[in-house]
Amino acid sequence: MGQLILVIDDSEFNLKVVKDMLKESFQVECVNSGEAAFEYLRRQIPDLILLDLHMPVMNGFEVIRRLKADSVWKEIPVVMLTADGDRDNEVRCFELGAMDFITKPIISQVMLQRVSRILKLTRLQKFLQFEVEEQTRRAEDRRRQVEQLSEEIMKTLASTIDAKDRYTNGHSLRVAMYSKEIARRCGMSKREQKEIYHMGLLHDIGKIGVPDTIINKRDKLSEEEYEAIRQHPKIGSDILKTIQQIPDIMVGARWHHERFDGTGYPDGLKGLDIPEYARIIGVADAYDAMTSKRSYRDILPQEVVRSELENGKGSQFDPVFAEVMIQMIDDDIRYTMREKDFLPKGI
Ligand SMILES: [Fe+2]
Repeated sequence: MGQLILVIDDSEFNLKVVKDMLKESFQVECVNSGEAAFEYLRRQIPDLILLDLHMPVMNGFEVIRRLKADSVWKEIPVVMLTADGDRDNEVRCFELGAMDFITKPIISQVMLQRVSRILKLTRLQKFLQFEVEEQTRRAEDRRRQVEQLSEEIMKTLASTIDAKDRYTNGHSLRVAMYSKEIARRCGMSKREQKEIYHMGLLHDIGKIGVPDTIINKRDKLSEEEYEAIRQHPKIGSDILKTIQQIPDIMVGARWHHERFDGTGYPDGLKGLDIPEYARIIGVADAYDAMTSKRSYRDILPQEVVRSELENGKGSQFDPVFAEVMIQMIDDDIRYTMREKDFLPKGI
């Protein structure tokens, strides 16, 4: 059978008239009061309701008010049946959510046309709503996939950078994680934490442009070789500048070797002129360098690392972020935040 129409009218005569008009084209159910209507609606949801305005006990206003207050019933289109053509009543019914009016005496053709059009309109609306939801869901899926892919690529790049240096296994990932934790402890948002994590992953990407022989050299570096290494922040920011989708991604790469007192490189920025993310990554980077093995020394004892950070406050490091890192050290009672025990498994 076709679409289902529920007619609510206290007059048995009216119910019969309406049913006769519609029964050829639709499935029609009739009830003679608001109470009976809600009884029916608990069992069955019609595609449309034809509702008489003037009924004893529960009138049309009360019925439509209750319908629109219910999460399931409010979606059913309601057409009011009224005998009086009273403007105020019509306005009130529209305000309560009625979709249309049919004035008694009802003309068969008008009734059929109105009901058919409203049903068609409702169907189209539902379809449109479904389409919009579907497209939104797909767009969200795609966005998530791209984000996941970007993250994978960044991690792969990070391990590629670290693989160049035999003494920096997992360095970029750890710097990313420590930076994110500092940001979290400073009350930064999830989005900011993610941004700094990505910047941490790629902070040393410029090392790609420095010869492996220099990076892995055990002996003292010549002035020239040292200068080549000092180029990595600039090379890194030049590489990352090309990623137009995330314009700030180069911040960490470019300024993680700046010092709070202005004696760092490549730009000699000082204090709060150094971007906040770079100040955080600078602390995390120095921490990981001290807690990683080097060709010329073992991992430094935790109290040495702690005092280096303490001493570097305001000279090498932003004092606020250095203090947060010190708190992280104090929370790390078993000294697990170090190269040996803290090889990231991909966060
Ligand atoms: Fe670096």
